[in-house]
Amino acid sequence: MNQAPDRVVLRKLVSALRERHYMHTVRFPSLQRPFFMLPFEPNVMLSYTRNKTSPFTPSALPSLYRFRWFAKHPDTALLYRFFFLNQPAPLRHLSKILGNELIGQLVDAGIVQKSDGHARATFRMVPYGDTIFLSDPDQGDARTTIQYVYLGGDSVTLSNFVSTRMLHRSYGRGLDLCAGTAFQGHNIKSHCDSVIAAEFNPRAVDFARAILYANSVPDTFSVIQSDLWQNVTGNFDIIVSNPPYYPVPKNKWNPMIMDVFGGADHGMEKPLTIFDGFGQFLNPSGEGILLAASPIIKGEDVLLSRLKPLAEKHGLETVLVPWKYTNMRLDPEYQVENSIDYLIHYIVHARLTGNGSVISSGYPFLVRTLQKLQLGFQKMLPSWPRR
Ligand SMILES: C[S@@+](CC[C@H](N)C(=O)[O-])C[C@H]1O[C@@H](n2cnc3c(N)ncnc32)[C@H](O)[C@@H]1O
Repeated sequence: MNQAPDRVVLRKLVSALRERHYMHTVRFPSLQRPFFMLPFEPNVMLSYTRNKTSPFTPSALPSLYRFRWFAKHPDTALLYRFFFLNQPAPLRHLSKILGNELIGQLVDAGIVQKSDGHARATFRMVPYGDTIFLSDPDQGDARTTIQYVYLGGDSVTLSNFVSTRMLHRSYGRGLDLCAGTAFQGHNIKSHCDSVIAAEFNPRAVDFARAILYANSVPDTFSVIQSDLWQNVTGNFDIIVSNPPYYPVPKNKWNPMIMDVFGGADHGMEKPLTIFDGFGQFLNPSGEGILLAASPIIKGEDVLLSRLKPLAEKHGLETVLVPWKYTNMRLDPEYQVENSIDYLIHYIVHARLTGNGSVISSGYPFLVRTLQKLQLGFQKMLPSWPRR
């Protein structure tokens, strides 16, 4: 279980990538969607023309978007395939682009492994906003890395929401809780006097600190290790959190899925503990936002009923914004055994006003209907567990 690589070498890599236009790749949708999702592609195209896509936007035709630009920038294309998609590359080509000296340092630092004239990146370099993040390569549901450091599609979903709905003003102190790479903290940093990122996984803490150093971020942004609120002190004007929020049965928990496991109560324990803490750690009129997933059991939206008493206790005016209806990819057996019809992924946005309430905002009818059809279809497949 390696920690983050040498920070000085990482900083050299980050500036070499910037010089070679790596930040330009931030718009290219790169998450491969199954080909049968092609009818949804016009939506992706529209988002792309509006500059609203990211490397985590799913697309049935990801190469379509980068093809023309990459034809004119073959060096960036190779770097992107190597450091973002984690595909192997000929060592000779890589050395030509980055220089033998830097390649030697990357190998010594464990960022690049070489064998038989080819090289492979052992970490993922993710461009987003004004930062290049270091995370573990995507391992899907088949995790092999202990204390895996996550950065993925829901990180971008939350940060986009925060950017459009909350960053129209400036804040004093900001907190990114369950920070991972401190992705959410970076998103709010230019709107805050100071930011603290708090994270439990010691390896992620190390990554987050290395990212700050490699991107030359001022020391008004710091990282602490904390089990949820344990080591957090003082009050905040904005708190952003993308915590683990999936249910995982006890016998399936392991230290490779710390980013996933939301705790007891069908994975709502950690999101609810964070929401409860908003009452103590937000300044008056302060805003807190987090991701959570609600199990729908016999028609009841369970998260909604758990949040209500907490919102009333603290005076948190709360809006739930749905953004995905899904069956559990991690554990369908658990879903069937616990009579969970499906999960609704929510953005939970609260303001400390003294008027405790929870309302749920609408989800576009067409999207909801299509997603529900997809859920029904999954349940008809022979692979879906039966009681
Ligand atoms: C889904 S990941 C999100 C990471 C990051 N916030 C983002 O948006 O990319 C959840 C993160 O919460 C961390 N985490 C899990 N349990 C925690 C705890 N008890 N206290 C603090 N962080 C925790 C995980 O290690 C992981 O980095």
